[in-house]
Amino acid sequence: MRLSQYFLPVLKETPAEAQIVSHRLMLRTGMVRQATAGIYSWLPLGYRVLRKIEQIVREEQDATGAQELLMPTIQSAELWRESGRYEDYGKEMLRIRDRHERDLLYGPTNEELITDIFRHSVRSYRDLPRNLYHIQWKFRDEVRPRFGVMRGREFLMKDNYSFDVDFAGARHSYNKMFVAYLRTFARLGLKAIPMEAATGPIGGDMSHEFIILAETGESQVYCHSDFLDFDALADAVDYNSDLSAIIKHWTSRYAATDEKHAAERFAAEVPAAKQLTTRGIEVGHIFYFGAKYSKPLGAVVAAPTGEEKPVEMGSYGIGVSRLVGAIIEASHDEAGIIWPEAVAPFRVGLINLKPGDANCDRVASDLYARLLAAGVEVLLDDTEQRAGAKFATMDLIGLPWQLVVGPRGAGAGTVELKRRRGGERSELPADQAIARIRGRPG
Ligand SMILES: Nc1ncnc2c1ncn2[C@@H]1O[C@H](COP(=O)(O)OP(=O)(O)O)[C@@H](O)[C@H]1O
Ligand SMILES: [Mg+2]
Repeated sequence: MRLSQYFLPVLKETPAEAQIVSHRLMLRTGMVRQATAGIYSWLPLGYRVLRKIEQIVREEQDATGAQELLMPTIQSAELWRESGRYEDYGKEMLRIRDRHERDLLYGPTNEELITDIFRHSVRSYRDLPRNLYHIQWKFRDEVRPRFGVMRGREFLMKDNYSFDVDFAGARHSYNKMFVAYLRTFARLGLKAIPMEAATGPIGGDMSHEFIILAETGESQVYCHSDFLDFDALADAVDYNSDLSAIIKHWTSRYAATDEKHAAERFAAEVPAAKQLTTRGIEVGHIFYFGAKYSKPLGAVVAAPTGEEKPVEMGSYGIGVSRLVGAIIEASHDEAGIIWPEAVAPFRVGLINLKPGDANCDRVASDLYARLLAAGVEVLLDDTEQRAGAKFATMDLIGLPWQLVVGPRGAGAGTVELKRRRGGERSELPADQAIARIRGRPG
């Protein structure tokens, strides 16, 4: 992509309404624009990141055997009356009436709708387990939408729903999602800590929130600092195998949010020097809820004994749009965003310091063509801005690599390569710069 043709409305001034760094940077880099309170348009740069995150989430879901479908954003109130949640949900639900005076709503979540789909087609334990997910916009009329996409009213969520014939199956489904979440967040360059969360009337220990530690987070959290040194799950996982050892390891240290925090346990289980009391961002939440929806909605299956019983369910959410902000909170400096490679909108920012100079133009277009041919996403700054402004914009939008073509180097056959994270620079021949970007020695 050529910057001279790209829709990148970078702001010079920091917008006054933005209170936290990710919100400021998303507005300044023209990633999003507020349409109305808590509702955003995703502009090209932001949308590229959103799609990359979505794709990583999808790949890790698919790896578990979960299957993607797509449910609508608008739902009928009928189902919610059946489950009893139409009244209970309160003012967060956006209620709509159509021209025939029928009550509709903009889905804040999908337990009812998925249970309805399930009950019409599955009757026997032989068709279980199943895990279905979609990545779809939700609406919750939050009292205080704030911090940009972190707490929006309209936001993109990956939500899935597991169906099992008994508790043992439901636990395995839960464990699969637990592991898939660890892998997803690690691929996104994040250290997410699974923390005990409230289970409501169901009880038990099967609800975890996945939290990124950040001072600007909305949740108050308490945890053991060992989590920061836990290794990410790098190797492929066999999701049909017993996953309980992984779960055991990741729940072996104290970690709880406000709601579940027990001060005495924290003091007893965690040495004072390892007690982390801080704030965090909830990026995912997994939950087992048994027959809470299958029972009122009559989603029953025949067990091997022949007996009919409500199917055992769990639901699992990831805040896809919130993650864009969370990643920036976790990865930035004074100059701007520092994208992890996996979600960067472009891998390389190629700066032509002197468009119009024959050498610079030749070297820059050659590099541009070669990177594209190698499948590397590159943003070429071919604008007439002065050098200082070009460097500032590249640092601000935070692409992992910067490749600078200037008159001196272009004459001598070299370019400057800069790593955005860490800032180290080297002057080297174009071939070597490309090899380094592509992760090959050179
Ligand atoms: N208002 C919001 N804006 C952006 N993301 C949200 C919002 N509410 C929830 N999410 C994301 O969706 C995930 C699943 O939501 P859920 O746990 O049902 O919401 P909550 O924790 O608000 O009850 C959360 O972990 C979070 O990452
Ligand atoms: Mg939650």
